[in-house]
Amino acid sequence: MRIDIITVLPELLESPLSHSIIKRAVNKGLAQINIINLRDFTTDKRRTVDDYQYGGDAGMVMMIEPVDKAISYLKSQRNYDEVIYTSPDGEKLSQPMANHISTLENIIILCGHYKGIDHRIREHLITKEISIGDYVLTGGELAAAVITDSVVRLIPGAMSDNESALSDSFQDNLLAPPIYTRPADYKGWKVPEILLSGNDAEIDKWQFQQSLERTKLLRPDLLEIDNS
Ligand code: ADE
Repeated sequence: MRIDIITVLPELLESPLSHSIIKRAVNKGLAQINIINLRDFTTDKRRTVDDYQYGGDAGMVMMIEPVDKAISYLKSQRNYDEVIYTSPDGEKLSQPMANHISTLENIIILCGHYKGIDHRIREHLITKEISIGDYVLTGGELAAAVITDSVVRLIPGAMSDNESALSDSFQDNLLAPPIYTRPADYKGWKVPEILLSGNDAEIDKWQFQQSLERTKLLRPDLLEIDNS
């Protein structure tokens, strides 16, 4: 899978996408993540990418021309399945959405900045808008990093068996059960006895029960989702 991320702040994306499972997926050639500086597609000396709003309201707007040039350049190299814009107006990122995106071949993610982007970009160039939650970030870079991380870890081969995505929270609309490591007793705070029993069938049963109880308590809304 190839992910091209267009941004005015490349530095903000480099570190979050260069560690752990994401780094391994890139090194194995399972994912190619390219960070594209929007300013490379400007023509003026100051490399301007924003301008004042028509209508007189405060706040700068990301201009259409550099964005169009960047997207057109990428599209001249290959076909893209989606051109995503990170925005609080978008569809909220979910595990099923991440699962779906991880099956795509090539995607572009455009990170918004300033007050937002010229609306014509959204009308003519963007195929999907994604929000990572109902709050407003300074720019779309952190959202793009979240989307990329949630997607790349799902590409077959990115995770080893014991990191398997199948045991993640949300994959079956259940939160993951509590997990523990050594020591079995720390200051009298004990690991549940069952996990030390070696009885795999009983452990599975306990973990499922815990998942169900935690979901009922913390995220009852998940139990109402119909996956059929
Ligand atoms: N840009 C600013 N806020 C955002 C959010 N909540 N999700 C995605 N992109 C954003």
